[in-house]
Amino acid sequence: MIKFLLGLVVGIGLLLLTGYLFVNRGGISMATKGGPLPMERSIAHQVLAASIGQSSGDQSPLPADEANLLAGAHVYQQNDCTMCHGRLDQPAPEVAKRFYPHAPQLLPPGEGVTDDPVGTTHWVVKNGIRFSAMPAFEGKLTDAEIWQVSLLLRNADKLPPPVQEVLRQARSD
Ligand code: HEC
Repeated sequence: MIKFLLGLVVGIGLLLLTGYLFVNRGGISMATKGGPLPMERSIAHQVLAASIGQSSGDQSPLPADEANLLAGAHVYQQNDCTMCHGRLDQPAPEVAKRFYPHAPQLLPPGEGVTDDPVGTTHWVVKNGIRFSAMPAFEGKLTDAEIWQVSLLLRNADKLPPPVQEVLRQARSD
């Protein structure tokens, strides 16, 4: 029994020591350069999914008609979304890749979030994403504006031409 307990204590001690050395001697780098840590991506993904939870099923109180998509395009243009997430038909802004995680391109030719439920995008824009450059827009934008920009991103691959026109312009305010 004593031997077992001793083994347990030594075992746990070694684990803690390894963890300590890994974290404190540069095993983990907080620099933005380099790839993800082991399991970082899947853990971050699961934590985010758990935070969003039921909100992913939230439906927009506003329809995805041209007026709301147009309003969403103005929200996108006037709140620096372009700075990190790019403009329509333009290469990614240079700064996007200097964040870790990188800022994804949300308008074509970027991959965007057209496959995500609009409730998920609404949650992300409202709350932001901790440990990333993604700011929270609650308080800065009204809930209606957050829905409008979420509808815009959900429909980014099939926007009416007048909406595309706004998204090609330089910042308009
Ligand atoms: C300073 C840079 C920055 C600004 C400004 C910014 N974002 Fe982000 N955003 C990010 C980064 C970085 C991520 C990636 C976070 C991650 O992967 O965990 C992100 C993620 C997102 C996502 C989730 C993308 C996905 O693939 O799931 C959405 C949606 C989003 N941003 C929308 C917006 C909107 C809309 C605005 C403007 C109202 C905005 N962002 C402004 C940096 C920014």
